[in-house]
Amino acid sequence: MSKRIAIIGGGNLGSAIAEGLLKSKFIDASKIIVTKRNTSTLHKLKEKGIEITSDNNEAVKKSDVVILAVKPFQVSELLNGIKNDLTDKKIFISVVTGVLISDMKNIIENDLPLFRAMPNTAIAIQQSMTCICSNNASEENIQYVNDLFKNLGEVVTIDEKLMEAATILGACGIAYALRFIRANIQGGIEIGFDAKIASIIAAQTIKGSAELLIQNGNHPEEEIDRVTTPKGCTIAGLNEMEHRGFSSSLIRGVVVSYKKIAKD
Ligand SMILES: NC(=O)c1ccc[n+]([C@@H]2O[C@H](COP(=O)([O-])OP(=O)(O)OC[C@H]3O[C@@H](n4cnc5c(N)ncnc54)[C@H](OP(=O)(O)O)[C@@H]3O)[C@@H](O)[C@H]2O)c1
Repeated sequence: MSKRIAIIGGGNLGSAIAEGLLKSKFIDASKIIVTKRNTSTLHKLKEKGIEITSDNNEAVKKSDVVILAVKPFQVSELLNGIKNDLTDKKIFISVVTGVLISDMKNIIENDLPLFRAMPNTAIAIQQSMTCICSNNASEENIQYVNDLFKNLGEVVTIDEKLMEAATILGACGIAYALRFIRANIQGGIEIGFDAKIASIIAAQTIKGSAELLIQNGNHPEEEIDRVTTPKGCTIAGLNEMEHRGFSSSLIRGVVVSYKKIAKD
């Protein structure tokens, strides 16, 4: 029997998780409940057979797994409202940014298996990078949560102290990559393509570059060596980008983002 999942907070991320789990066939629609105070925005999920409610307590009571997907400032009030229904037989997964396991345990006051997961917006197309850490979880629980997020993309297990870094590299990383693609499109237009064709070429080329690393397991520089002919156009362009601070500006941007949220 597959576990019943309650998603508390059917906003952007909560709804994307529900959609992704359905598309991947990880779970049947009849086994998912999504909650939200204003349920009128959830009609698409309802049409797909998912139960929709604004009653968090009822959703938690009926479920084996609870995924919390509300804004950080809403966590305390929400957890206080459902803590009596969160028995230690359930698996609790928070995708909320910046709320520590210890903060949630202090409110819940029991020893249920607790996970934090940091996905990114590509979860909507089952291409998320999701970083996971856990507390008081059995091997079986860990396997289950990994399987759940594997159906929504790639998964790595990390220490909780790296969750802020995961937020930057994995979740904010989507924005960094898209800005890089946008710059390529602008360059492409300047050298002759219309915006539509430039977008297709830039996005597919970056997708292919990422796949080369993912599928071959190589360091980026190994793949770059294959493209850079001596005295050629690629190395000339790359070196000009580096003289202008390309890698340096990216690294500095990542570090500045991290400093905004780092707790250490
Ligand atoms: N978006 C991302 O890429 C991303 C990535 C990683 C982590 N996160 C984290 O995921 C969380 C959710 O992000 P989001 O972008 O999905 O935010 P969101 O769209 O604002 O979703 C939050 C949802 O929670 C619902 N909600 C609020 N209070 C509730 C309550 N008491 N009971 C039931 N539902 C309630 C809200 O709907 P109502 O107002 O109708 O109740 C809202 O739809 C955030 O903590 C964020 O940091 C997001």
